[in-house]
Amino acid sequence: MANVTITDLEKVYPEKNGPGVKVVHSINLEIKDREFMVLVGPSGCGKSTTLRMIAGLEEISGGTIAIDNKEVNNVLPKDRDIAMVFQNYALYPHMSVYENMAFGLKLRKFPKAEIDQRVRDASAMLGLDPYLDRKPKALSGGQRQRVAVGRAIVRKPKVFLFDEPLSNLDAKMRVSTRTEISKLHAKLGATMVYVTHDQVEAMTMGDRICVMKDGRIMQVDSPLKLYNHPANLFVAGFIGSPAMNLFKGRLQRATDAADLLEFVETNEQSAKSLRMTLDARLSAGGANHVGKEVVFGIRPEDVLDTLSLAQPNPAHTTEVKVEVCEPMGAETYLHLTTGATSFIARVSPTDRFDTGQSVKVTFKMEAAHLFDPATEQALS
Ligand SMILES: Nc1ncnc2c1ncn2[C@@H]1O[C@H](COP(=O)(O)OP(=O)(O)OP(=O)(O)O)[C@@H](O)[C@H]1O
Ligand SMILES: [Mg+2]
Repeated sequence: MANVTITDLEKVYPEKNGPGVKVVHSINLEIKDREFMVLVGPSGCGKSTTLRMIAGLEEISGGTIAIDNKEVNNVLPKDRDIAMVFQNYALYPHMSVYENMAFGLKLRKFPKAEIDQRVRDASAMLGLDPYLDRKPKALSGGQRQRVAVGRAIVRKPKVFLFDEPLSNLDAKMRVSTRTEISKLHAKLGATMVYVTHDQVEAMTMGDRICVMKDGRIMQVDSPLKLYNHPANLFVAGFIGSPAMNLFKGRLQRATDAADLLEFVETNEQSAKSLRMTLDARLSAGGANHVGKEVVFGIRPEDVLDTLSLAQPNPAHTTEVKVEVCEPMGAETYLHLTTGATSFIARVSPTDRFDTGQSVKVTFKMEAAHLFDPATEQALS
């Protein structure tokens, strides 16, 4: 297996009568041996372009890509020892499942016995044994996708590349195939690079996740590190559903505790706005921003219904209004407003709330965040 080292990688697409459009801006990424690395980000951020450059299907405009510490910039795709699985898995319709999986090896003139062994191993691993003689049109979408994965597995490549392989499947099939790919990764111990714009897929599958935006890397970290310590506003808003609540305001010295800071929400519309004393950690993080604009962030599960707490901290408690109550079954999304900002609390499904009602909520301050709105970077 192999590591993939991406150094100062750039992609410029040519443009009529212009200098070209840069869609990947000098990215650096080290994908470790046996790692499952997910590239995630909104549509058009450069995920597929990056993956295709690793595969050699797209020319590199600048920088280098190395596989197993060997530069492959000028190595043909077929010689990179990489297998790629696409969203449109284009199986050969006139060939059986077996033949589809065997085809690549046949082209490479593998001995028949070796081909048979590899196809049967992959088929067993993917649960395709009952379908080996069928044509693709007689398979479900999920089964076809497994054949496409099987075609990659039989080649025993150094690196697997996946470009949104699940996006043509229905919701239930996506979840089960997602789990299968994760199991496969564990079984094969292979290096995998997986592109998706679905943050749930990214969170559940990745050893590490590389969050991209506009052709730039925003943060590379383990799923929980990204979730609990987003490096900037983009990652904070992108990872997590419902998204992190963000409040615009400024910092000042707390009136009731000299060594702490207070966040005061900006509200031009009315006198009512959120005011919250910060804890020592956030106060330290915001120390250089007293009197300045900041963004205060807190996830929906860290906005607690005060009534459910034995001893709610009054410094972290505020009264807000209920806008909408959405029971989801296992939990309830409570849409609230401070008067200036609408935000969401994730509360117990047994709690009942009416629209327009006032409720007291307590912010779990140790899980809150501060960001600089100018640089968009985290302060805490
Ligand atoms: N052949 C091309 N010529 C010019 N621009 C291109 C070409 N292919 C892609 N682009 C542009 O490059 C940018 C990145 O595209 P890319 O396909 O890598 O995005 P992506 O992150 O994979 O998005 P999606 O989630 O929609 O698949 C986009 O702005 C796209 O319009
Ligand atoms: Mg894409």
